[in-house]
Amino acid sequence: MLTLSIIKADTGGYVGHSAVHPEMVDEARRAVNGAKGELLVDGQVAWCGDDLSLIMTHDRGLESEPIHRFAWDLFMTTTGIAKRLGLYGAGQDLLSDAFAGNLRGLGPGYAEVEIEERPSETILCFLADKTEPGAWNLPLYRMFADAFNTAGLVIDPKMHDGFRFEVHDLREDKRIMIDCPAELYDLLLFIGSPSRYVVKRTISKTLGEVAAVTSTQRLSLMAGRYVGKDDPVMIVRCQSGLPAVGEALEPFAFPHTVAGCMRGSHHAPLMPVSISMAHPARFDGPPRVVCLGYQLKDGRLNGPRDMFDDHSFDEARRQCNQVMDYLRRHGPFEPHRLPLDEMEYTTMPSVGERLAGRWEATQATVPAEPQPVGAGTARDTE
Ligand code: 13P
Ligand code: 13P
Ligand code: MG
Ligand code: MG
Repeated sequence: MLTLSIIKADTGGYVGHSAVHPEMVDEARRAVNGAKGELLVDGQVAWCGDDLSLIMTHDRGLESEPIHRFAWDLFMTTTGIAKRLGLYGAGQDLLSDAFAGNLRGLGPGYAEVEIEERPSETILCFLADKTEPGAWNLPLYRMFADAFNTAGLVIDPKMHDGFRFEVHDLREDKRIMIDCPAELYDLLLFIGSPSRYVVKRTISKTLGEVAAVTSTQRLSLMAGRYVGKDDPVMIVRCQSGLPAVGEALEPFAFPHTVAGCMRGSHHAPLMPVSISMAHPARFDGPPRVVCLGYQLKDGRLNGPRDMFDDHSFDEARRQCNQVMDYLRRHGPFEPHRLPLDEMEYTTMPSVGERLAGRWEATQATVPAEPQPVGAGTARDTE
């Protein structure tokens, strides 16, 4: 069995939160190249915005201690570079001081899949910045459950029975398997609310194979707020009973609106871009997604092909800019700004406390008529 792991972290932004510094990328490449043949079968380094991704193949299985430790140590090293260069938010995603067995809950995100390599193993690695794992819900629905997107669901005998979706409830730390197409509407009830319910995996009912996996992690309540909704990555296997490459890319021709832009506190449309355009600038956005395509052979990563470096996504990018103009005009109003309980930054506790004494019951806003003694309202007696 071969494992494909994407492990990612924001260990410092250059400039602001817009990109990763080339020195950090060089260091990561050096480390990954050095680990090939020993720890890794193969490995590459990629980035989207300020998030650095390690794309690795190995035979050590899921959540393997040496693989996760390798990534953690490397992220500590790139944090050191970020500190030396004075980059923004050095070590941003490293939430703990110490590594403990695997990266669960420590801050870095990871998507991993264990596979029996097919004779032609077509893999797409999606990396996004300025959003959260729930951003994959809509594209995954379209790839694996929507016949208007994926022709194979209708005309490929190996896809016609559909796919199972593993959905996680990030707040309650629970998961459920939902069978499509039979339970399509049940699925949509949950995943249409992507801040809480997130697709972790999809599984082919005919092949019994994992088709897609995301970097979804349980949210941890730390210092009174939930953390762990970081810029996400996703692996999608394609062809031969799984969506064709074009079916897996097609959902991104619609730049759907996702949470996470500007201070992690705004909705904005997700722009599919080439690697050369993966550095969000306007209002720290719009959020970006890149797709690196590979053909695996004996664990070797043949690629990447820069899949969104294609004129067929020009229209999505144009629409994205139009939607961004429209949303920006809302300024600090919802639905551009996130609901109060989902914002990453908020002045609410301090402003709330400062003004607490000035709120009064609405009945008292109209000066009360003098009441005869003893004439209490029903409420007074409750
Ligand atoms: P496969 O069923 O061989 O994956 O071919 C589908 C396809 O690529 C058509 O576009
Ligand atoms: P990142 O999550 O990509 O670091 O962005 C943080 C932010 O709030 C940018 O405005
Ligand atoms: Mg950042
Ligand atoms: Mg980021």
